[in-house]
Amino acid sequence: MAALVLCGAVSGASAAAPDIPVPYIPSTEVAVEEMLRLAGVGRDDVVVDLGSGDGRIVIAAARYFGASGFGIEIAPDLVALANENARQAGVADRVRFYARDVMQADVSRATVVTMYLLSSLIEKLKPKLLAELKPGTRIVAHDFGFEGWPPDRKVIISKTLFLYVVPARVAGQWRLTAILPGGTRTYDFELIQQYQRISGGARVPGGYLPFFEARLDGTRIYFAIVDDERSHHFEGTVYGDVMEGTVRSGIGSAQTENRWRAERLAARRAQG
Ligand SMILES: C[S@@+](CC[C@H](N)C(=O)[O-])C[C@H]1O[C@@H](n2cnc3c(N)ncnc32)[C@H](O)[C@@H]1O
Repeated sequence: MAALVLCGAVSGASAAAPDIPVPYIPSTEVAVEEMLRLAGVGRDDVVVDLGSGDGRIVIAAARYFGASGFGIEIAPDLVALANENARQAGVADRVRFYARDVMQADVSRATVVTMYLLSSLIEKLKPKLLAELKPGTRIVAHDFGFEGWPPDRKVIISKTLFLYVVPARVAGQWRLTAILPGGTRTYDFELIQQYQRISGGARVPGGYLPFFEARLDGTRIYFAIVDDERSHHFEGTVYGDVMEGTVRSGIGSAQTENRWRAERLAARRAQG
């Protein structure tokens, strides 16, 4: 896989990735350590390695970070080896490996997904992962990233690693109510979303207030609007069809902080 790895490390993924079976090439010890570091794995995490080989990533997550998890691997001999490795590492109570195709795996319990696969399989997995993983789930890809989905972080430490945080689905129409210094205000706004990138604005009588510095980090959302010649900085958390948080208005010692809440009026299909 050496030549393919080099190609993937440079581009992240190739446009017309050929459908090549993914060989068994174990991650190096450094790559395992850096993948788990990049994902910020902790004891509450459920770590799922797609194409888990001898189980080293999930076993290290359990052994060194107290996490639990499972691996999905198509080769039954590797599954047996991984379960034996977990037993020898003393983590078999928190870690299991299953003989299955990754496309058939139930990944909905994962809070962290790792994968060291080739681009063709990664592209097939992308819609499944976006549909099934909870917003905020971290995905770390080794050498081969997703086509068209910009990573939230890219790290090169001996190998190239990509971090993706599954974004909340926010595309569509929303109605927001906020307490601002001038009183309670209601804005109807629309968000356009492509993965973690969002843009949009609020319709107001006689005009439109664009959202500035809008961004999404998993379930956390941030944007600013300028209304009545004042800027208002919103940050909050998305809970499905509701988002809420705090809005800061004003400067320095004159700054005020208040609550805001928005409810979804209609959803639009997220692009990507
Ligand atoms: C490059 S190895 C990585 C192994 C391990 N994740 C690691 O980093 O050490 C890729 C693994 O994916 C497995 N694999 C390939 N295609 C698969 C599929 N469709 N479903 C499940 N496993 C697959 C291979 O058998 C191989 O063990």
